Amino acid sequence: MRFFIDTASFDNIKEISSWGIIEGVTTNPSLVSKENLSLQEIVKKITSIIDGPVSAEVIATDYDNMLKEARELHSIASNVVVKIPLIEDGLKAASTLKKEGIKTNLTLVFSVNQALLAAKAGATYVSPFVGRLDDIGVDGMKIAGDIVEAFDYYDLDSEVIAASIRNPAHVEEAIKRKCHVATVPYDVLKKMVEHPLTDIGIQKFLDDWNKKN
Ligand code: E4P
Repeated sequence: MRFFIDTASFDNIKEISSWGIIEGVTTNPSLVSKENLSLQEIVKKITSIIDGPVSAEVIATDYDNMLKEARELHSIASNVVVKIPLIEDGLKAASTLKKEGIKTNLTLVFSVNQALLAAKAGATYVSPFVGRLDDIGVDGMKIAGDIVEAFDYYDLDSEVIAASIRNPAHVEEAIKRKCHVATVPYDVLKKMVEHPLTDIGIQKFLDDWNKKN
């Protein structure tokens, strides 16, 4: 499973990419709004240090303006993936962008039906929002796993990004469910590194070493 980082913070991306484990970035309008730069400036900065796919979302919800924004975002760098909401115009836009060779990430996906439609429309990535499903009492990771199985069974090319990840347990479940990618927030990535037995183990090694030296 590949790891993307789910943030628009350049500093966070820079810090975590130094670990050598990040293969892409996802942003969304809420994440971009937390930064002091425009979406275009943010995408430019991120793509200057990340070679893998960098998802940037359109704001428009109608076909013509989605296409206009998508083409503008893609002109910033060739590794920009255009994030499009799973609505009727979004499907239409995704299928046009596929013909233009522009990669898309169909976002705000909450069901297997929506995911299948996205894949048929030619989405490069499909992002089920696991945490937001959990919030309404639906097992989000089960939906993500069902989507992976359906894509596999029907031999569809789209990749599943487990999104709206809230904790390290979500990430472990995404691995078990064979999601192609998990897009993980900065704080969850930090928590994934930590284990109390690692800290206790280091301390014991140092104590034993210092007794003898
Ligand atoms: C994914 O592409 C989205 O940016 C993100 O995972 C949404 O997560 P949230 O539900 O925590 O806002």
